[in-house]
Order: sequence, then C-alpha cells, then structure tokens
Amino acid sequence: MRLKSLDRVLTATPASDGGGVKLYRILGPDGMRGLDPFLMLDDFGSESAEDYIAGFPPHPHRGFETVTYMLEGRMLHEDHLGNRGLLSSGGVQWMTAGRGVVHSEMPQQESGRMRGLQLWINLPAADKMRDPAYRHLPAEDIPEATLANGSRVKVVAGEFVHDDRRLRGPARGIATDPLYLDLELPAGERLDVPVHAGYRALVYAIEGGAEVCGASIDRRRMAVLGTEGDGVALSAGPDGARLLLLAARPLNEPIAHYGPFVMNSRREILEAVADYEAGRLVA
Ligand code: CO
Repeated sequence: MRLKSLDRVLTATPASDGGGVKLYRILGPDGMRGLDPFLMLDDFGSESAEDYIAGFPPHPHRGFETVTYMLEGRMLHEDHLGNRGLLSSGGVQWMTAGRGVVHSEMPQQESGRMRGLQLWINLPAADKMRDPAYRHLPAEDIPEATLANGSRVKVVAGEFVHDDRRLRGPARGIATDPLYLDLELPAGERLDVPVHAGYRALVYAIEGGAEVCGASIDRRRMAVLGTEGDGVALSAGPDGARLLLLAARPLNEPIAHYGPFVMNSRREILEAVADYEAGRLVA
C-alpha cells in the first residue's frame, strides 16, 4: 500500500442554512473546486432544539447529489416525486438531484440532541440533467463490522476490504464511484484503509482526534489527501476517534455554483434559475 499524501487540513466554519439551522461547513480552499468531486460537507445539529427546529423547508437542487447521514435524531424527507422517508439515527438518504428535485428535510423531534452530516457530491456533466433518484438507506441496511483491534466500520458506499473481510455499501451505481465509511477507532489504534489510486480522499473527524497520513485532525477538521497513492493510514489519539472517510473519482470539469444549483457554466446556472422560476425544474 502506498499512502496518499496530505494536501491540507480544513476547519469547518459556523454557518446557517435552510430555515436557520445552525451548522458547521467545510468548503475547499477554492470554494467548491478544491475537493473534486466532493463539493461541500455540512455538520449540523445541536443539543438545543432552537438551533435545528426550523429544519430545511422546501427548496430545489439541480446538478449534483446530496447525501444526508443522521448520526442522532430524526428528520423527515419529502420530495416532489412523492418520496417520503423518515431518517433516523444511523440512516442515510442518498438523493441524486439530476435535472431537478424540490425537497424538504424537517426535524421530527422538539427537544434533545440532533446531529447529522450532509455531503454534496458533484455529478459529471453528462449526468447533470439525468432523471432524479432517491435512495432511503435505513441503519439496518448499512453493513457494519468490528475488526480485531476493536475498530468498528460502517460502509454506506463502496467496498471496504480488511484481512479476509469484505463489506459492500448499499448505495450503488453512483457516477463518481464513491467510498463512504463511518469508522470508530479505539484510543491509540491504527487502521490502514485501501483507497483507489487516482481518487480524491477526505477524512473528517466527527468526534475525537486522529493522525491521518501525517496530519493531526480533531473534531470538525478535515484532512484533504492527494489523488496519488492507494491507501489512507489512520491512528486514533488518546480519546479514540470517530471518522468519516470519503473517496471518489475526480471529475476535472468546470464548476458553476449558485445557491442550490451546481452546473458547468454560467449559462446553465441561469437556465436552472429560469426553469425553477417557471416551474420547469421539476416538470
Ligand atoms: Co436539500
């Protein structure tokens, strides 16, 4: 295994979105270009309901995919296609917006802790105007294993191979061939994860702290790794670590972004806005 090298460490910054949900956001150094094919990661949630109760009322998307992973709490997803899914602790909603989706994501709790991650993954130019798709992946559909050193792994997308174990995530047929892993490492333990050469890899600290290919990250920080090399080395710090490991095939295509639309050119963005205003986005 040849380890990927560290590009940089990013820190999530406070932001607010939807109806006023407080969250922490990771954006690349060049906005949406720096994490190709990933665009953005939001870490939302709080102990206090006032920070999340307004939820994400109906809004459109075009040109990419949103992946929502509920770590704790409950949210209801509904979209214009009639999809309806209650996202609860450990569950994932994988939405491919394609040419257009209007959806809402609303909390189904009035008190207590809520936490989730929403990742935006770009679509290749050829797929930006494809039909939308929606996958509801409840916690029980997401394979999980405990390894010899006590590390725990959940596989949402892609394949995780370790010793003689092979786990395959339920989100399949995704354009950028992503690997999406939720990893928990006990204090001081190490885990090497194979990742395709040529793929972008990101490691985000959900909790605790870890060394990732030579960099130290802790809660709400992300290690951005280069595309060369075919492995990622993780070692947990003294408090252990819960890490999100992402990898996918870069697109190397131009990005034009405006609000909930991510396309390849300014002209396509204007078209998306006009389509939305005319009710054609979801027609
Ligand atoms: Co949305």
